[in-house]
Amino acid sequence: MSLLPIVEVPDPILRASSAPVERVDDELKGLVQSMFETMYDAPGIGLAAVQVGVPRRLLIIDLQEPESDAEDAPPVRRPHVFINPEILHSSDARKSYNEGCLSIPDQYAEIERPDVVRARWTDLDGRQQEGEFDGLMSVCLQHEVDHLNGILFIDYLSRLKRDIIVRKVVKSRKDRAKAAVL
Ligand code: NI
Repeated sequence: MSLLPIVEVPDPILRASSAPVERVDDELKGLVQSMFETMYDAPGIGLAAVQVGVPRRLLIIDLQEPESDAEDAPPVRRPHVFINPEILHSSDARKSYNEGCLSIPDQYAEIERPDVVRARWTDLDGRQQEGEFDGLMSVCLQHEVDHLNGILFIDYLSRLKRDIIVRKVVKSRKDRAKAAVL
């Protein structure tokens, strides 16, 4: 088990444009494994490598949705790995969703994005894949691809709202650090 520290705003690495992954090797597979452990522990449903301080074009998603609508239905893990993902097409139709981000803890905002996207990526076996996504999977993929380009969901808000959110995150981190020494 190896949990990786998650980078939070306003760390400048979150603004970096991630570099392409050149080889799917054991080192990359190890990173993917640690990223899943970190994401499940957080807990979150998506994580880009840059959020654990590795500015490479790699992201993981697991919506962990329950098998059925029953209230006590346990979440089911369906891990997805996207290496060098590219959005090929975005629908004109848009939809808004209440988004959060592990790098911006406890802050949420309604963000509007294209409803359906078509994407191409490399999988963990080094094979090229293509697929179309809608619903939460589409939102999550777009949010994570943004991370690879140094874009955060708060960038879709007004500058004022964005600054308020970043200030709140910094303040609550300071409060946490203070609480730990008392
Ligand atoms: Ni995020």
